[in-house]
Amino acid sequence: MRVNFVDLVRQYEAIRDEVRPRLDAIMETGNFVLGPAVAEFEEAFAAYCGRDHCVGLASGADALHLSLRALGVGPGDEVITAANTFIATVNAIAQVGATPVLVDISPDDYNLDPALLEEALTDKTKAIIPVHLYGQPARMDAVAAFADAHGLKIVEDACQAHGALYRGQRAGSLSHAGCFSFYPAKNLGSFGEGGAVVTNDGDVAEQLRIYRNVGQSEKYVHPVPGFNSRLHSMQAAVLTVKLRHLDAWNEKRRAFAALYNEALTDVPGVEIPQTKPETEPVWHLYVIQHPRRDALMAFLKEREIFCGIHYPIPIADQEAYQGVRAHPADLPVTRAGAPRILSLPMHPDLTPEEVAYVADNVREFANQ
Ligand SMILES: Cc1ncc(COP(=O)(O)O)c(C=O)c1O
Repeated sequence: MRVNFVDLVRQYEAIRDEVRPRLDAIMETGNFVLGPAVAEFEEAFAAYCGRDHCVGLASGADALHLSLRALGVGPGDEVITAANTFIATVNAIAQVGATPVLVDISPDDYNLDPALLEEALTDKTKAIIPVHLYGQPARMDAVAAFADAHGLKIVEDACQAHGALYRGQRAGSLSHAGCFSFYPAKNLGSFGEGGAVVTNDGDVAEQLRIYRNVGQSEKYVHPVPGFNSRLHSMQAAVLTVKLRHLDAWNEKRRAFAALYNEALTDVPGVEIPQTKPETEPVWHLYVIQHPRRDALMAFLKEREIFCGIHYPIPIADQEAYQGVRAHPADLPVTRAGAPRILSLPMHPDLTPEEVAYVADNVREFANQ
């Protein structure tokens, strides 16, 4: 048996008949950029997230970058985020000319540890970017209380958390701007690149619409220097179709996570992921820890089970961010986790047999 880490071909087969007529319709009208298909998706995704506005963009990276810009974050400002995240979170801070400040993660949810925000705060701190890593919302109560107390903006990185809930509210709807990626392998993915911001702030939405469209407020009128970050109509059409399946796909991910949990509890050396009771994660990734991670990953690969590592090199150890300020300076949880974490195959088109096969092989390795 071969078990892929993600399987977009299986997913396409399931939605092929719904997607193709919509793509044909766009090709037949020639409305390829910011057409009615984009407006239709934006309306549907805003409603899904329980927000007034959604602005479709070219990527999740742009969603983060342009949100910070729309909120007025810039040179001289500091932005606090999690030390274990995808590099794009931190790049967005650098892109607006602000300074990233990293805080360590909690060992029990792999998300930013709110207890560390106090020591990361300075009089230059302008915003916090909590990342809902692996599909589990960060502890937003504590983040929001801290932000309120210090007058900070919150930009959520919900790029791995489409549909996740925190105290019954959607990830991405718990801040000034909720940022999503529609990279193909995400829980809600396009057939290429894409991203979006959801917000209740009409001014932020308006700014984002201007920034994404070369700084244009109306044809050939440019109040600010802008970017080309428009969501394509074809991607929006795919996303509108896939959004209808998102809850069912997330339910499947939850069922597979439960199967993994059951099969891997009490296996020597294996630590299964913990979840917080106030969250309903969407299991973008199912991440275990093992002290001999590299050997386990190689063992699984020999059995044609393909895994990932999110992320193998902490951002503080990347050449791009040498000397970045971090709290605590040695980031003990992030650094201890990096050589131990392993993302097992996780996608909604797995079968229970495949999940059992993966778990059996992890157990076999662990019991050697
Ligand atoms: C946590 C996180 N932030 C940001 C991004 C950036 O999204 P994109 O690849 O669409 O630019 C991703 C996805 O790749 C991500 O997983």
